Amino acid sequence: MSMQHYGYGEVHGPRAGEMSRRGFMRRMLGVGVGILSIEFLAGTLAFLWPNIREGLGGRLTVGTAASIATNYPEWTEGLAYIFQSKIFVVNVPAAKARVEGEGEVSQPVGDPGTDVSSDIPAVDRSVLALYRKCPHLGCQVPQLCDQSQWFECLCHGSKYTVLGEYRAGPAPRGMDRFVVEMEGDTYVINSGEIEDGPPVGTVTFDDRDSQLIPHCAA
Ligand code: FES
Repeated sequence: MSMQHYGYGEVHGPRAGEMSRRGFMRRMLGVGVGILSIEFLAGTLAFLWPNIREGLGGRLTVGTAASIATNYPEWTEGLAYIFQSKIFVVNVPAAKARVEGEGEVSQPVGDPGTDVSSDIPAVDRSVLALYRKCPHLGCQVPQLCDQSQWFECLCHGSKYTVLGEYRAGPAPRGMDRFVVEMEGDTYVINSGEIEDGPPVGTVTFDDRDSQLIPHCAA
């Protein structure tokens, strides 16, 4: 009968107190995922914070005509100034000139004036504040369409003039409006007061037939 010998050779693996290569990789992966999660959370909060802090419901200072024109010179040529991402601030005389000039404005309007009262017909006001939330199902309405010079909702094709009057599509009315007030020469939006958009059939300006002009939205 033969004797079997068992040797006390080298034991493979990490020594006591040392981390294995696999353990190290796992730990590094955990650290990486942790850092990414924190970055994602911080980015999300940074994105949401302005809306939380400056959400609708209060008085929002837009600025003077001169400050808006400096921030966004196209405002003097009839494009809407997008304020806090939710509101179109429309320079009404410039927007009317843009429509009449089929997208060209020969005389930019740097200061549309101070006639902002809701008692004045929208077409005669200096500045209008239109809610970008489409009154159909709430999509965000983009900047004026180049082809039509109308606001056109890309979700289901509702179309509105520069005054927010309804012209086509499934929306039940024109674009809703906020009350604008003057504090000295500064435009202030009372975002706690939303006026329903004008009813379908309201035509105070720009009565072009929707069927006869090109559009951005189908
Ligand atoms: S949400 Fe704008 S047309 Fe439907």
